Amino acid sequence: MIWGDLIERGCKWLSCAMRVVVMTIALSLGTSVIEVYAEVSQPVFPSARGEQCVEPVDIMRRDHFEFLKHQRDKTVREGIRTPRHSLAGCIDCHADKDAQGRFVPVNAKGQFCQSCHVYAAVKIDCFSCHAARPSERVSQSP
Ligand code: HEC
Ligand code: HEC
Ligand code: HEC
Repeated sequence: MIWGDLIERGCKWLSCAMRVVVMTIALSLGTSVIEVYAEVSQPVFPSARGEQCVEPVDIMRRDHFEFLKHQRDKTVREGIRTPRHSLAGCIDCHADKDAQGRFVPVNAKGQFCQSCHVYAAVKIDCFSCHAARPSERVSQSP
């Protein structure tokens, strides 16, 4: 029964193909769920200006506040001003610009310092005294 045979094979192939389709859909759904999950479980912030940070990135992630505190003590107590770990320097490189080309404060929602600190449940009061965006003395001519 050549036709019956062919039909049977065709059906097998079809059900196999269906299985592949269903598996592919399930897999891609699975990955997008994982992607969304990864997005909400990681802080997302704008990338910085400049070639590199003032220290290697893994060290900055761990110890940036030590550098800042040390720098503050040096400046406030000893009057020594060095640009390397200055807070103003962090802001210069890490403040993002909005669609109009104006700087956005680094402690605004979704911005560099804020997004990571919300994620890590850290609160800082630095920007009640320090500017949270670079000074815009330069004219914004096109
Ligand atoms: C009550 C106001 C106030 C608060 C709050 C404050 N600072 Fe300062 N800070 C100052 C003053 C005043 C100076 C000395 C003037 C200057 O150098 O700008 C200074 C200087 C500094 C400096 C050295 C100068 C520079 O730009 O690098 C650093 C670093 C610094 N502060 C970091 C911090 C950090 C980090 C925080 C938050 C944990 C903080 N400050 C909170 C007032 C403040
Ligand atoms: C010359 C520009 C520049 C300066 C100044 C600077 N940074 Fe960075 N920073 C970078 C770049 C570039 C990176 C690499 C990651 C990126 O592209 O966003 C980075 C990365 C970081 C990271 C790790 C971010 C991550 O991906 O996890 C932290 C935290 C950080 N900087 C904090 C600071 C602090 C605090 C200061 C001031 C003491 C500072 N930076 C000064 C340019 C700078
Ligand atoms: C990659 C994530 C990340 C980014 C980006 C980041 N921070 Fe932090 N910050 C942390 C974490 C995590 C801690 C707490 C670490 C701890 O307590 O061990 C912290 C702590 C601090 C502290 C000390 C707070 C305290 O109570 O002692 C200061 C000051 C600080 N960050 C300043 C900044 C500034 C200014 C920026 C932006 C220029 C910035 N951080 C960006 C993760 C980040």
